[in-house]
Amino acid sequence: MNQPKYHESVMVSEVVESLHVKKAHKYIDATLGTGGHLLEIANLGGDVLGIDMDPEMVRISESRLAGKARLVQGNFINIDKIAEDQGYGRVSGILFDLGVSNLHLKDLGRGFSFENPDASLDMRINPETQGIKASDLLNALRGDQLREMFETTLEPGAARWITDRVLSFRENQAIKTVSDLLTICRGLRTGKSGLNEATLPFLAIRIAVNSELDNIKLALPKAYKLLEKGGRLVVISFHSGEDEIVKDFFKEKQNSGDKLITFKPVVPEESEKEVNKRARSARMRILEKTND
Ligand SMILES: C[S@@+](CC[C@H](N)C(=O)[O-])C[C@H]1O[C@@H](n2cnc3c(N)ncnc32)[C@H](O)[C@@H]1O
Repeated sequence: MNQPKYHESVMVSEVVESLHVKKAHKYIDATLGTGGHLLEIANLGGDVLGIDMDPEMVRISESRLAGKARLVQGNFINIDKIAEDQGYGRVSGILFDLGVSNLHLKDLGRGFSFENPDASLDMRINPETQGIKASDLLNALRGDQLREMFETTLEPGAARWITDRVLSFRENQAIKTVSDLLTICRGLRTGKSGLNEATLPFLAIRIAVNSELDNIKLALPKAYKLLEKGGRLVVISFHSGEDEIVKDFFKEKQNSGDKLITFKPVVPEESEKEVNKRARSARMRILEKTND
């Protein structure tokens, strides 16, 4: 498989339209990736700060964007501090395009994808600062903890089944590679037709390794505080665990007077879903801050 040069951004026109990008207004792209969304915002005259936890994404974006935006390596749970430090303490819009990029999934050495069985089972978004790899979790967690982790993407019965498989595999040998996890997943019934049996276990483990759900819960209220009156928070999620958090947070804000722009999430056009497989699960929600 060829490593793509850049991430294939989803719903780019919908994103810039939702943000109502205006010349010289400030925006934050909290999940820079390889800068696809950010580039569009900058081309419309927005003054953008891009943040990504993965130093590799920041390096790629730096060369792609050539000075068009301010880029910072960091975790979006610190969006308040990063924004203040960079002079973006009050902004017109913030984008979160959650999860990982195509480059992560197609980097065969990082263990995100099951397409390279020999890769070490790693899955850390920032290998420079995160100590715990996917294999560490699988080898160390107790049965109840494994079950809880797998239940973020699997039904309870399937989560129990795969937990038992992990426990019996590691009785004989440590779990080290993508191939070990594929062996563990073999025969799993997820009840989702058309989905590889390993997809949902891989996703659950990735979410746990990178604390993805906790990070969203921590970051959304901080991002909201940075918005000026009339500013917009736009979030694209890719699975129900993420979307539930966004939906609940937006509902809470709507109840206290903010304007919910999307009663139902916006999904990509069929034509986009046909050419970009990852877009098929994308859901975008938009909130406008009307309180100050
Ligand atoms: C779907 S990609 C974003 C792609 C981007 N919108 C584009 O057009 O190229 C998600 C990005 O968020 C980053 N990310 C995930 N969790 C993060 C976190 N807690 N803080 C900062 N960046 C994070 C990942 O490294 C990844 O590059």
